[in-house]
Amino acid sequence: MPTSSDIMARTGGRELKRVVYTREQIRERVEEMGREIAEAYPADEPLLILGLLKGSFIFLADLVREIARPVQVDFLIASSYGSGTVSSGEVTLLYDTGADFEGRHVLLVEDIIDSGTTLARLVPRLEARKPKSLELVTLLHKRIATLPREARWVGFDAPREFLIGYGLDHSEDYRNLPFIASL
Ligand code: IMP
Ligand code: MG
Repeated sequence: MPTSSDIMARTGGRELKRVVYTREQIRERVEEMGREIAEAYPADEPLLILGLLKGSFIFLADLVREIARPVQVDFLIASSYGSGTVSSGEVTLLYDTGADFEGRHVLLVEDIIDSGTTLARLVPRLEARKPKSLELVTLLHKRIATLPREARWVGFDAPREFLIGYGLDHSEDYRNLPFIASL
């Protein structure tokens, strides 16, 4: 467990409500998921790991090191609409991978699934590029969303609280916490 002075050093003195997943719990679960993912794909078929930035950057970095098979890595940045914004029904990609999906397995990496709005719009667009398969892995799932495609690998069923750390932010802060906490 992190000491309170360690937490304070990282948050700039701001208090957190509670630690929800420790560094050790995350590490263990990420190792398990990495093993399961490696076993799920035929060893000779190409696998592209596609991270949704920014929230997935730490999870993805840890996860790919636990996948004992060849992988390629790329990223997407999707625009997110605030809850008060009337959505156009489109998802805008601020950065899109130039990778060709045809003949490759694509594994999309999310940090947390909350409303599922972004994924609901993004997944059909990725499927239209005809990957050999498209699957989703998320570290956290609040189990609120009904997705067009459910995540095949879920790290933890998360409490319906606002979570930060291990890549997750609140107004861009707290991404560097090595554990996950609620604010
Ligand atoms: P969704 O479209 O509502 O499923 O969530 C989209 C994105 O919002 C996620 O990929 C996260 O980046 C962010 N998000 C959702 N819930 C949380 C949270 O509890 N903490 C931090 N970010 C969150
Ligand atoms: Mg975010």
